Amino acid sequence: MEINNAKYVISNVDVDKCPQGNAPEYAFIGRSNVGKSSLINMLTRRKALAKTSQIPGKTLLINHFSINDGEWNIVDLPGYGFAARGKKQREEIDRIIRSYILRREQLTCLFVLLDVRHKPQKVDMDFLRWLGENGVPFAIIFTKADKLSKTAVSANVDFYRKELLKEWEELPPVFITSSEKKTGREELLGFIDDTNAAVREQCGETEDSEN
Ligand code: GTP
Ligand code: MG
Repeated sequence: MEINNAKYVISNVDVDKCPQGNAPEYAFIGRSNVGKSSLINMLTRRKALAKTSQIPGKTLLINHFSINDGEWNIVDLPGYGFAARGKKQREEIDRIIRSYILRREQLTCLFVLLDVRHKPQKVDMDFLRWLGENGVPFAIIFTKADKLSKTAVSANVDFYRKELLKEWEELPPVFITSSEKKTGREELLGFIDDTNAAVREQCGETEDSEN
């Protein structure tokens, strides 16, 4: 699959005000500064579709982008667990994220981003556990692979897999990416394409509709 066009639609804090329609939706989440917005720009080949920043806490809203004339949606979410934000704002962001994840029916897969340089962190493990408890479909995306050697990337990913297998019977899909080097783009778009096809099949649609 290729992304032919990507359009910013709307930003809001209220899941009830998110766009209507039944286009499959893929949301990107993870700690602040992990590279969510950069990855969205890499996938869509746009420099500044999603706003990025070196300072953590840039994305504070649920941001909707429409892909290929409404075929599917990308959602850029705020980062979780950002200490410098202060307790009140952190709780508010947490509430926005969690209500979006639990109530958004169009959410087809949540991509949880993890910085490949870091060892598993409690805030991420807690978040993944919460997804499991709530039956949220998700996949893991390791980011910033350009910042380590190939060997170090494999070692860190293997370590992560082992840690996850202590708690989980099976692993979700795992992707290794670099927005800087455009690594992992085809694999991710391929996964989204396959998932979209599965959704269409589930909805009983055929490829050639009434035209
Ligand atoms: P918040 O919206 O604040 O939660 O952050 P975010 O997860 O959207 O991160 P963002 O995409 O804004 O990127 C944060 C910083 O990491 C920026 O300085 C990016 O340039 C940098 N960055 C993101 N992805 C990569 C990558 O693959 N490689 C490298 N080297 N830097 C990256
Ligand atoms: Mg962001």
